Amino acid sequence: MTLSSAPGKVYLLGEHAVVYGEPTVLCAIEQRARVGVQRRDDGKLRVNAEDLSLDGFTVEYDGTADEGPDIDVSESLLDAAMGYVDGAIEQVRDVTGNDEVGFDVTIESDIPLGAGLGSSAAVVVAAIDAATRELGVTLETDELAERAYQTEYQVQNGQASRADTFCSATGGAVRVEGDDCRSLAAPDLPIVIGFDGGAGDTGQLVAGVRSLRDEYGFAADTIEAIGDVVRNGEAALADGDLEELGRLMNFNHGLLSALGVSSRSLDTMVWAARDAGAYGAKLIGAGGGGCIAALDPTPETETALSFTPGCEDAFRAELAETGVKRLE
Ligand code: PMV
Repeated sequence: MTLSSAPGKVYLLGEHAVVYGEPTVLCAIEQRARVGVQRRDDGKLRVNAEDLSLDGFTVEYDGTADEGPDIDVSESLLDAAMGYVDGAIEQVRDVTGNDEVGFDVTIESDIPLGAGLGSSAAVVVAAIDAATRELGVTLETDELAERAYQTEYQVQNGQASRADTFCSATGGAVRVEGDDCRSLAAPDLPIVIGFDGGAGDTGQLVAGVRSLRDEYGFAADTIEAIGDVVRNGEAALADGDLEELGRLMNFNHGLLSALGVSSRSLDTMVWAARDAGAYGAKLIGAGGGGCIAALDPTPETETALSFTPGCEDAFRAELAETGVKRLE
Protein backbone atom coordinates (compact mmCIF):
# COMPACT_ATOMS: atom_id res chain seq x y z
CA MET A 1 0.00 0.00 0.00
CA THR A 2 1.31 3.43 -0.93
CA LEU A 3 -0.17 6.52 0.69
CA SER A 4 0.00 10.16 -0.39
CA SER A 5 -1.84 13.26 0.74
CA ALA A 6 -2.42 16.56 -1.02
CA PRO A 7 -3.85 19.84 0.25
CA GLY A 8 -6.97 21.75 -0.69
CA LYS A 9 -6.73 25.40 -1.66
CA VAL A 10 -8.24 28.83 -1.24
CA TYR A 11 -8.44 31.42 -4.00
CA LEU A 12 -7.21 34.56 -2.27
CA LEU A 13 -8.07 36.63 -5.35
CA GLY A 14 -8.97 36.19 -9.00
CA GLU A 15 -11.24 33.18 -9.59
CA HIS A 16 -13.48 33.38 -12.69
CA ALA A 17 -11.29 36.13 -14.20
CA VAL A 18 -8.51 33.51 -14.48
CA VAL A 19 -10.63 31.75 -17.11
CA TYR A 20 -10.08 34.81 -19.39
CA GLY A 21 -6.33 35.02 -18.88
CA GLU A 22 -6.22 37.31 -15.84
CA PRO A 23 -3.83 36.32 -13.02
CA THR A 24 -5.02 34.63 -9.85
CA VAL A 25 -3.40 34.11 -6.46
CA LEU A 26 -4.24 31.16 -4.29
CA CYS A 27 -2.79 29.23 -1.40
CA ALA A 28 -2.76 25.62 -0.29
CA ILE A 29 -4.40 24.83 3.06
CA GLU A 30 -3.84 22.07 5.59
CA GLN A 31 -7.23 20.45 4.89
CA ARG A 32 -6.06 17.40 2.93
CA ALA A 33 -7.17 14.43 0.87
CA ARG A 34 -5.32 11.18 1.63
CA VAL A 35 -5.25 8.47 -0.99
CA GLY A 36 -3.95 4.94 -0.35
CA VAL A 37 -3.26 2.69 -3.31
CA GLN A 38 -2.54 -1.02 -3.63
CA ARG A 39 -1.74 -2.64 -6.95
CA ARG A 40 -3.97 -5.45 -8.26
CA ASP A 41 -3.04 -7.67 -11.12
CA ASP A 42 -6.56 -8.36 -12.42
CA GLY A 43 -6.84 -4.89 -14.01
CA LYS A 44 -9.80 -3.88 -11.83
CA LEU A 45 -10.21 -0.60 -10.04
CA ARG A 46 -11.81 -0.73 -6.61
CA VAL A 47 -12.48 2.55 -4.87
CA ASN A 48 -13.39 3.01 -1.25
CA ALA A 49 -14.27 6.58 -0.36
CA GLU A 50 -15.17 6.83 3.30
CA ASP A 51 -15.24 10.49 3.95
CA LEU A 52 -15.91 12.77 1.04
CA SER A 53 -18.68 14.58 2.87
CA LEU A 54 -20.88 12.03 1.14
CA ASP A 55 -22.25 8.91 2.73
CA GLY A 56 -19.38 6.46 2.56
CA PHE A 57 -19.53 4.18 -0.41
CA THR A 58 -17.53 1.45 -1.98
CA VAL A 59 -17.64 0.54 -5.62
CA GLU A 60 -15.97 -2.13 -7.65
CA TYR A 61 -15.85 -2.30 -11.40
CA ASP A 62 -13.45 -3.03 -14.18
CA GLY A 63 -13.46 0.43 -15.68
CA THR A 64 -15.13 -0.47 -18.99
CA ALA A 65 -17.93 1.79 -20.18
CA ASP A 66 -20.59 -0.93 -20.44
CA GLU A 67 -19.93 -2.42 -17.03
CA GLY A 68 -20.55 0.47 -14.68
CA PRO A 69 -20.46 0.09 -10.92
CA ASP A 70 -23.57 -1.36 -9.33
CA ILE A 71 -24.32 1.05 -6.53
CA ASP A 72 -27.26 2.99 -5.22
CA VAL A 73 -26.13 6.62 -5.24
CA SER A 74 -27.08 9.37 -7.66
CA GLU A 75 -25.33 9.17 -10.98
CA SER A 76 -23.92 12.67 -10.80
CA LEU A 77 -22.41 12.03 -7.38
CA LEU A 78 -20.88 8.82 -8.57
CA ASP A 79 -19.64 10.39 -11.79
CA ALA A 80 -18.03 13.18 -9.82
CA ALA A 81 -16.20 10.89 -7.44
CA MET A 82 -15.35 8.13 -9.91
CA GLY A 83 -14.55 10.32 -12.90
CA TYR A 84 -11.59 11.90 -11.13
CA VAL A 85 -10.20 8.63 -9.82
CA ASP A 86 -10.65 6.96 -13.17
CA GLY A 87 -8.97 9.86 -14.95
CA ALA A 88 -6.09 9.85 -12.47
CA ILE A 89 -5.52 6.12 -12.98
CA GLU A 90 -5.52 6.62 -16.77
CA GLN A 91 -2.68 9.13 -16.32
CA VAL A 92 -0.83 6.65 -14.13
CA ARG A 93 -1.18 3.92 -16.75
CA ASP A 94 0.05 6.34 -19.38
CA VAL A 95 3.05 7.69 -17.49
CA THR A 96 4.20 4.26 -16.29
CA GLY A 97 3.44 2.47 -19.59
CA ASN A 98 1.51 -0.16 -17.64
CA ASP A 99 -1.86 -0.33 -19.43
CA GLU A 100 -3.25 -3.36 -17.67
CA VAL A 101 -2.63 -2.57 -14.03
CA GLY A 102 -5.52 -2.24 -11.57
CA PHE A 103 -5.66 -0.77 -8.06
CA ASP A 104 -7.49 -0.78 -4.76
CA VAL A 105 -7.88 2.90 -3.94
CA THR A 106 -8.91 4.28 -0.56
CA ILE A 107 -9.81 7.94 -0.25
CA GLU A 108 -10.23 9.99 2.91
CA SER A 109 -10.68 13.71 2.78
CA ASP A 110 -11.17 16.63 5.18
CA ILE A 111 -12.20 18.82 2.24
CA PRO A 112 -15.91 19.26 1.55
CA LEU A 113 -16.80 18.31 -2.05
CA GLY A 114 -17.61 21.00 -4.57
CA ALA A 115 -17.36 23.81 -2.03
CA GLY A 116 -14.52 25.74 -3.66
CA LEU A 117 -11.75 24.23 -1.54
CA GLY A 118 -10.18 22.13 -4.28
CA SER A 119 -11.32 18.68 -3.19
CA SER A 120 -11.13 17.13 -6.65
CA ALA A 121 -7.65 18.53 -7.36
CA ALA A 122 -6.37 17.21 -4.03
CA VAL A 123 -7.80 13.73 -4.66
CA VAL A 124 -6.37 13.65 -8.19
CA VAL A 125 -2.89 14.84 -7.13
CA ALA A 126 -2.69 12.38 -4.22
CA ALA A 127 -4.07 9.50 -6.33
CA ILE A 128 -1.60 10.01 -9.19
CA ASP A 129 1.30 10.38 -6.77
CA ALA A 130 0.42 7.28 -4.73
CA ALA A 131 -0.37 5.06 -7.73
CA THR A 132 2.79 5.97 -9.67
CA ARG A 133 4.90 5.36 -6.56
CA GLU A 134 3.11 2.03 -6.03
CA LEU A 135 4.52 1.11 -9.46
CA GLY A 136 7.99 2.34 -8.53
CA VAL A 137 7.85 5.70 -10.35
CA THR A 138 8.22 8.99 -8.44
CA LEU A 139 7.09 12.01 -10.46
CA GLU A 140 8.68 15.44 -10.20
CA THR A 141 6.23 18.03 -8.84
CA ASP A 142 5.83 19.77 -12.22
CA GLU A 143 5.00 16.51 -13.97
CA LEU A 144 2.60 15.56 -11.19
CA ALA A 145 0.86 18.95 -11.52
CA GLU A 146 0.68 18.57 -15.32
CA ARG A 147 -0.80 15.05 -15.11
CA ALA A 148 -3.32 16.18 -12.51
CA TYR A 149 -4.28 19.14 -14.72
CA GLN A 150 -4.77 16.82 -17.70
CA THR A 151 -7.06 14.68 -15.57
CA GLU A 152 -9.23 17.64 -14.52
CA TYR A 153 -9.22 18.99 -18.07
CA GLN A 154 -10.61 15.73 -19.40
CA VAL A 155 -13.09 15.06 -16.62
CA GLN A 156 -14.37 18.65 -16.76
CA ASN A 157 -14.63 18.71 -20.57
CA GLY A 158 -11.95 21.30 -21.09
CA GLN A 159 -13.24 23.65 -18.35
CA ALA A 160 -10.26 23.61 -16.01
CA SER A 161 -7.53 26.05 -15.14
CA ARG A 162 -4.15 24.90 -13.92
CA ALA A 163 -4.64 26.76 -10.64
CA ASP A 164 -6.07 24.06 -8.34
CA THR A 165 -3.88 21.20 -9.41
CA PHE A 166 -0.66 23.24 -9.46
CA CYS A 167 -1.40 24.67 -6.01
CA SER A 168 -2.24 21.27 -4.55
CA ALA A 169 0.87 19.61 -5.98
CA THR A 170 3.25 22.44 -5.03
CA GLY A 171 1.80 23.78 -1.78
CA GLY A 172 2.36 27.29 -0.44
CA ALA A 173 1.03 30.35 -2.24
CA VAL A 174 0.97 30.37 -6.02
CA ARG A 175 0.22 32.70 -8.90
CA VAL A 176 -1.34 31.40 -12.08
CA GLU A 177 -1.83 33.32 -15.32
CA GLY A 178 -2.78 31.14 -18.28
CA ASP A 179 -0.21 28.37 -18.48
CA ASP A 180 2.27 30.28 -16.34
CA CYS A 181 2.26 28.85 -12.80
CA ARG A 182 4.71 29.93 -10.12
CA SER A 183 5.21 29.87 -6.37
CA LEU A 184 5.00 33.11 -4.37
CA ALA A 185 6.54 34.03 -1.06
CA ALA A 186 3.67 34.58 1.37
CA PRO A 187 3.27 35.19 5.08
CA ASP A 188 1.23 32.68 7.08
CA LEU A 189 -2.21 34.11 6.49
CA PRO A 190 -4.89 34.06 9.23
CA ILE A 191 -7.56 32.47 7.02
CA VAL A 192 -10.98 31.61 8.41
CA ILE A 193 -13.41 29.58 6.29
CA GLY A 194 -17.20 29.69 6.50
CA PHE A 195 -19.08 26.86 4.78
CA ASP A 196 -22.81 26.99 4.06
CA GLY A 197 -23.06 23.22 3.56
CA GLY A 198 -23.86 23.63 -0.11
CA ALA A 199 -22.04 23.61 -3.41
CA GLY A 200 -22.34 25.56 -6.64
CA ASP A 201 -22.29 24.06 -10.12
CA THR A 202 -18.92 25.26 -11.45
CA GLY A 203 -19.78 24.63 -15.12
CA GLN A 204 -23.03 26.57 -14.91
CA LEU A 205 -21.46 29.46 -12.99
CA VAL A 206 -18.56 29.77 -15.44
CA ALA A 207 -21.05 29.69 -18.33
CA GLY A 208 -23.14 32.42 -16.65
CA VAL A 209 -20.14 34.71 -16.32
CA ARG A 210 -19.21 34.01 -19.94
CA SER A 211 -22.62 35.02 -21.23
CA LEU A 212 -22.59 38.25 -19.18
CA ARG A 213 -19.15 39.02 -20.60
CA ASP A 214 -20.40 38.37 -24.15
CA GLU A 215 -23.46 40.55 -23.62
CA TYR A 216 -22.10 43.55 -21.75
CA GLY A 217 -18.89 45.51 -22.15
CA PHE A 218 -19.11 46.45 -18.47
CA ALA A 219 -19.09 42.77 -17.49
CA ALA A 220 -15.91 42.32 -19.54
CA ASP A 221 -14.54 45.41 -17.73
CA THR A 222 -15.50 43.84 -14.39
CA ILE A 223 -13.40 40.79 -15.26
CA GLU A 224 -10.46 43.03 -16.16
CA ALA A 225 -10.95 44.91 -12.90
CA ILE A 226 -10.59 41.62 -11.02
CA GLY A 227 -7.23 41.21 -12.79
CA ASP A 228 -6.20 44.67 -11.49
CA VAL A 229 -7.28 43.71 -7.97
CA VAL A 230 -5.08 40.61 -8.19
CA ARG A 231 -2.05 42.61 -9.37
CA ASN A 232 -2.46 44.91 -6.37
CA GLY A 233 -2.93 41.88 -4.14
CA GLU A 234 0.40 40.42 -5.20
CA ALA A 235 2.16 43.48 -3.84
CA ALA A 236 0.14 43.36 -0.60
CA LEU A 237 1.02 39.70 -0.17
CA ALA A 238 4.71 40.32 -0.78
CA ASP A 239 4.64 43.11 1.85
CA GLY A 240 2.63 40.99 4.31
CA ASP A 241 0.10 43.85 4.35
CA LEU A 242 -3.00 42.04 5.65
CA GLU A 243 -5.11 45.20 5.86
CA GLU A 244 -4.59 45.92 2.18
CA LEU A 245 -5.10 42.28 1.23
CA GLY A 246 -8.39 42.28 3.17
CA ARG A 247 -9.58 45.45 1.39
CA LEU A 248 -8.78 43.83 -1.94
CA MET A 249 -10.65 40.66 -0.97
CA ASN A 250 -13.70 42.81 -0.17
CA PHE A 251 -13.43 44.52 -3.53
CA ASN A 252 -13.02 41.17 -5.28
CA HIS A 253 -16.15 39.85 -3.58
CA GLY A 254 -18.13 42.85 -4.81
CA LEU A 255 -16.96 42.29 -8.39
CA LEU A 256 -17.78 38.56 -8.22
CA SER A 257 -21.16 39.44 -6.83
CA ALA A 258 -21.76 41.82 -9.76
CA LEU A 259 -20.98 38.90 -12.06
CA GLY A 260 -23.79 36.93 -10.43
CA VAL A 261 -21.83 34.22 -8.65
CA SER A 262 -22.53 35.08 -5.02
CA SER A 263 -25.57 33.89 -3.07
CA ARG A 264 -27.53 34.99 -0.05
CA SER A 265 -25.69 32.59 2.26
CA LEU A 266 -22.27 33.58 0.91
CA ASP A 267 -23.11 37.28 1.29
CA THR A 268 -24.43 36.68 4.81
CA MET A 269 -21.22 34.94 5.84
CA VAL A 270 -19.08 37.64 4.20
CA TRP A 271 -20.93 40.33 6.17
CA ALA A 272 -20.75 38.34 9.41
CA ALA A 273 -16.97 38.17 8.99
CA ARG A 274 -16.67 41.88 8.19
CA ASP A 275 -18.89 42.81 11.15
CA ALA A 276 -16.68 40.66 13.38
CA GLY A 277 -13.68 42.76 12.40
CA ALA A 278 -12.05 40.63 9.70
CA TYR A 279 -9.61 42.51 7.45
CA GLY A 280 -11.72 41.32 4.53
CA ALA A 281 -13.85 38.46 3.25
CA LYS A 282 -14.92 37.00 -0.06
CA LEU A 283 -16.52 33.98 -1.64
CA ILE A 284 -13.97 31.48 -2.90
CA GLY A 285 -14.03 29.29 -5.99
CA ALA A 286 -16.91 29.10 -8.40
CA GLY A 287 -19.48 30.51 -5.94
CA GLY A 288 -23.23 29.92 -5.98
CA GLY A 289 -22.85 28.33 -2.53
CA GLY A 290 -20.05 26.67 -0.62
CA CYS A 291 -17.35 28.65 1.16
CA ILE A 292 -16.12 32.12 1.97
CA ALA A 293 -12.65 33.01 3.24
CA ALA A 294 -11.93 35.83 5.67
CA LEU A 295 -8.67 37.18 7.08
CA ASP A 296 -8.70 37.53 10.85
CA PRO A 297 -5.90 36.76 13.30
CA THR A 298 -8.33 37.01 16.26
CA PRO A 299 -10.96 34.35 17.15
CA GLU A 300 -13.81 36.82 16.45
CA THR A 301 -14.66 35.86 12.87
CA GLU A 302 -14.70 32.13 13.54
CA THR A 303 -16.97 32.69 16.54
CA ALA A 304 -19.28 35.02 14.64
CA LEU A 305 -19.54 32.62 11.72
CA SER A 306 -20.34 29.70 14.00
CA PHE A 307 -23.41 31.66 15.20
CA THR A 308 -24.43 32.85 11.73
CA PRO A 309 -27.63 31.25 10.40
CA GLY A 310 -26.83 29.42 7.19
CA CYS A 311 -23.18 28.84 8.13
CA GLU A 312 -22.84 25.12 8.71
CA ASP A 313 -19.17 25.03 9.60
CA ALA A 314 -16.50 27.59 10.45
CA PHE A 315 -12.84 26.72 10.80
CA ARG A 316 -9.36 28.07 10.50
CA ALA A 317 -7.26 27.05 7.49
CA GLU A 318 -3.49 27.04 7.93
CA LEU A 319 -1.31 27.62 4.91
CA ALA A 320 0.08 24.26 3.73
CA GLU A 321 3.75 24.90 2.98
CA THR A 322 4.11 21.46 1.47
CA GLY A 323 1.98 20.22 -1.42
CA VAL A 324 1.90 16.50 -1.97
CA LYS A 325 3.17 14.49 1.00
CA ARG A 326 4.53 10.99 0.61
CA LEU A 327 3.36 9.16 3.69
CA GLU A 328 4.20 5.49 3.09
O1 PMV B 1 -14.99 26.12 -7.17
P1 PMV B 1 -13.75 25.63 -7.78
O2 PMV B 1 -12.68 25.29 -6.81
O3 PMV B 1 -14.01 24.57 -8.83
O4 PMV B 1 -13.10 26.87 -8.57
C1 PMV B 1 -13.54 27.29 -9.82
C2 PMV B 1 -12.68 28.43 -10.23
C3 PMV B 1 -13.08 29.10 -11.52
O5 PMV B 1 -12.15 30.16 -11.72
C4 PMV B 1 -14.47 29.69 -11.43
C5 PMV B 1 -13.02 28.15 -12.70
C6 PMV B 1 -11.63 27.70 -13.05
O6 PMV B 1 -11.52 26.59 -13.62
O7 PMV B 1 -10.65 28.43 -12.82
